[in-house]
Amino acid sequence: MFTLHNQDCLQALDHLRESSVDLVIADPPYGLGKDYGNASDRMEPAEFLAWTELWILKTLPKIKPTGSFYIFATWQYAPEIFSFIKKHMTMINEIIWDRKVPSMGGTTRKFSSVHDNIGFFAKRAAYYFDLDPVRVPYDPATKKARTRSIFVGKKWLERGYNPKDVWSISRLHRIHRERENHPTQKPLALIERMIQASCPENGLVLDPFAGSGTTLVAAVKNRRRVIGFEVNPDYCRIIEERMERASFQQNVRLGQLESVSGRVEQHLTRTR
Ligand SMILES: C[S@@+](CC[C@H](N)C(=O)[O-])C[C@H]1O[C@@H](n2cnc3c(N)ncnc32)[C@H](O)[C@@H]1O
Repeated sequence: MFTLHNQDCLQALDHLRESSVDLVIADPPYGLGKDYGNASDRMEPAEFLAWTELWILKTLPKIKPTGSFYIFATWQYAPEIFSFIKKHMTMINEIIWDRKVPSMGGTTRKFSSVHDNIGFFAKRAAYYFDLDPVRVPYDPATKKARTRSIFVGKKWLERGYNPKDVWSISRLHRIHRERENHPTQKPLALIERMIQASCPENGLVLDPFAGSGTTLVAAVKNRRRVIGFEVNPDYCRIIEERMERASFQQNVRLGQLESVSGRVEQHLTRTR
């Protein structure tokens, strides 16, 4: 079940119930001047950081005590943003998304930047985390090489190991089938790993900056409920088409999501 709000998340968040969300996946504007068909990524540094703190402060109370928060950032602003969140939550990991960008010359005055910094935070020590669905199976040759008796029958050997905190997943190119017309669309594989590990089945995922709808697709595909906010109506259309193509239309139950207040339900009914 998914709901999509063509709204500024700063307003929409006010209508979400406190402690109702299992997992927030936030991929906000980076403060680097990307074109999202609006001015959302064209703020000066101080304004960008103040705005970032504002939406984070509105988001955190919506997370359940067992819930988690993943936020995409860049090396330019990750230190400030992560330090701010650490005042409110425990930092569990910094995940480096290696976008596997091919070497093609590029800058000659510094090293080429090919990663995103993803902060993974939890509210409490007893946060939900299920490693099993995201274990990485060994290939037969590596598995065979670990035949010492002390390893035999070990879960990590039989079912796979814990993914490390560097995730090498290619960014989406035009040739990729899942590619949509959005400048910073994230690969499904990246978001699915977060959802499988950090949200229980039927749990609720929130994406305040839905973009092309990657989190919505990944959540419904993995039997989680999801709410997305996206301010650009063109991207909302992309999301709706994407969900339809993925045959998720039967899952649309507008106005029935328990964590959305009546006001947002009315807004939804109007905008659809
Ligand atoms: C980095 S992109 C998200 C990409 C997304 N994760 C995906 O895989 O397609 C950020 C998105 O946030 C949207 N946005 C910017 N400001 C917003 C706001 N205040 N409320 C909701 N959406 C906003 C932009 O239009 C843009 O589509």
